[in-house]
Amino acid sequence: MHIKDHPVLGPQLQDPVTIYFNDQPYMAYKQQTVAAALIANGVKKFGLSRKLVQSRGLFCSRGRCCSCYMTVNGEDHVRTCMIRVEEGMEIYPNLEDPEVRGDGHGD
Ligand code: FES
Repeated sequence: MHIKDHPVLGPQLQDPVTIYFNDQPYMAYKQQTVAAALIANGVKKFGLSRKLVQSRGLFCSRGRCCSCYMTVNGEDHVRTCMIRVEEGMEIYPNLEDPEVRGDGHGD
């Protein structure tokens, strides 16, 4: 679900690109953030919390939390709500980390 023609702001989405999430192609537009493009394509689960292994997704949408962290073009822990898509971008979910599940790492 892409909003291509906003009632107040006018036409918003031009320049289609192809991005890859878990090696699957998705259509996006250069004006979108990675998180917005994934949501528009029906992807709501961006990864798992490192310790409790619970689903994570879009939360603040403004770069203030870490809920949308994903691996983008090989770089870990990218705030996907803050970067725009690029042609051929490779995106993978942020996965659990067994190393932080020990008692020495808080709750
Ligand atoms: S959703 Fe909070 S930083 Fe992206």
